[in-house]
Amino acid sequence: MRLEIDYLLDTKAIEKDDVRDVVNGLQSTPKSIPARYFYDKYGSQLFEQICDLPEYYPTRTEASILKQYAMAIVKRTRADELVELGSGSSTKTRFILDAYKDMDTPLYYTPVDVSGSMLETTANNLLKNYSKLKIQGKVATYDLAIEQLSTYSLGKRMIIFLGSSIGNFNAEECDRFIQKVTTALNSGDYFLLGIDLYAQLYPLGQKPIEVLEAAYNDASGVTAAFNLNMLQHLNNRFQGNFNLELFKHKAIYNTEQNQIEMYLISKENQSVTLDSLNLNIEVKKEEAILTEISRKFNLLQMKEYLDKNSLNLIETYTDDRQWFGLLLCQKV
Ligand code: AVI
Repeated sequence: MRLEIDYLLDTKAIEKDDVRDVVNGLQSTPKSIPARYFYDKYGSQLFEQICDLPEYYPTRTEASILKQYAMAIVKRTRADELVELGSGSSTKTRFILDAYKDMDTPLYYTPVDVSGSMLETTANNLLKNYSKLKIQGKVATYDLAIEQLSTYSLGKRMIIFLGSSIGNFNAEECDRFIQKVTTALNSGDYFLLGIDLYAQLYPLGQKPIEVLEAAYNDASGVTAAFNLNMLQHLNNRFQGNFNLELFKHKAIYNTEQNQIEMYLISKENQSVTLDSLNLNIEVKKEEAILTEISRKFNLLQMKEYLDKNSLNLIETYTDDRQWFGLLLCQKV
């Protein structure tokens, strides 16, 4: 048995949280919609397309770093279990799995994703390519997976969290997440974190704002479609009547917060109803609904932050332009 999948999602609890968060977000001033609403089936496809866009440098840059350093990471850590939070199609993870293959070392891979179909397809493909691999997938939220992971050990563990997905958490959510992650690590275990950088160390400098903003305002309009699809998702899920034609995509870089902010801007005064939630909202012309933040980081600040959370930064891997960082930490 090389494949086991645990289905941990409690669909009733999720439904309750989803409803609460949509209602709260749309009734707040300013309005917001949780970023997880991007990822219905079509939204997930659009996200895969975003990753291939010429303007969207994070995926490509992180992949190039992994390609270059996967062997060094594996030799240094020699983990028995690789846990990936938000594994998706596990594309970049293959660089790490390749390094294990080359060393002829067995490995447990524990992908964690909320999409069961994605996880099953990906796991089956990986089993075909990696004959020594054993997969113990979890169809779960990060919280549920981490809770379960903290109850057992298959040996030395490395948790990986790629793509700068940590940037989509606000500061509070980030604290909670990092603290949770540390509960699933024993002393000496590893955490590999991918972060999108706004500042370079050598020479001291900033990533150009044009580069940051272009990544979220691509010329072909895929990110705009991804953002607008969130309204379609709400329509489908909650019998809503958002008219996608009456909103436009906007993404700006906030230089004080060092974050991209994505909004949907209303083109006119309008009222919108989500029937199954019994919710009616008024949206003013030019009113902005916040759909996502994507925080960008500074290596020194991140090192201090991780240190404070019992994660000792032992190696930083980056690209020539220092646009992206892959941080290898060890639990104290
Ligand atoms: C998933 N996450 C890291 C992406 C990001 O860059 O913040 C989501 C995304 N939003 C628009 N483009 C990509």
